[in-house]
Amino acid sequence: MSPGVFITLEGIEGAGKSTVAAWLSQWLGERGLTVRLTREPGGTALAERVRRIVLERGSEQVSAEAETLLMFAARAIHLDNLVRPALAAGEWVLSDRFTDATRAYQGAGRGVEPQWIEALAERVHGDLAPQCTLLLDVPVKLGLARARARRGESDRIEAEAQAFFERVRTGYLALARREPQRIRLIEAAAPVESVREQVAAALQPWLTAAGVRT
Ligand SMILES: Nc1ncnc2c1ncn2[C@@H]1O[C@H](COP(=O)(O)OP(=O)(O)O)[C@@H](O)[C@H]1O
Ligand SMILES: [Mg+2]
Repeated sequence: MSPGVFITLEGIEGAGKSTVAAWLSQWLGERGLTVRLTREPGGTALAERVRRIVLERGSEQVSAEAETLLMFAARAIHLDNLVRPALAAGEWVLSDRFTDATRAYQGAGRGVEPQWIEALAERVHGDLAPQCTLLLDVPVKLGLARARARRGESDRIEAEAQAFFERVRTGYLALARREPQRIRLIEAAAPVESVREQVAAALQPWLTAAGVRT
């Protein structure tokens, strides 16, 4: 059996990751592929508990370093218990966020040293990278307006100011320039229909390899 395909979705709040993830998993499923839709931080019962710790708005301080370590702790659990077994079973794993989010949020957004993040990434999943990362890019104002319209209560990271998300967006765009083969830029301010077309086009090589006609 050929190993599955690991696809990640990235972008700031309100970019449309969850919207694309739900549509894409169904769309791939309808084309005969076995898809595992998951998210980070979280994705397994234990990793979702770490997610609650990292996102809750409590009275204690959570430093950028603590946040980074919690993200990688959740990631290690997620990889061992869900991502690696699913890929080994030939499934397509679709993850709403992965390590690029740590690079963009904790790195570019909070100023955590990139070398330290890369050392953790190498240690936790040096053998494994997404085949394709869909970076949904929107202006910060639009993303935040969409995210606000979606729900009232924001979590600890969503509560950050616009300047923080500007740094995160800039960080994501820098990653895309560095790894243009892996990270596909999706113009996500566009209507949903256009976003879907861009996503399907970006995945074409893997769809073709899997014998899926689009
Ligand atoms: N291309 C789009 N055009 C307009 N609205 C969108 C688009 N994509 C998503 N939305 C809406 O914006 C909000 C945030 O989308 P969501 O998928 O939850 O973003 P994310 O998961 O990246 O935070 C949702 O209410 C969703 O319906
Ligand atoms: Mg989401």
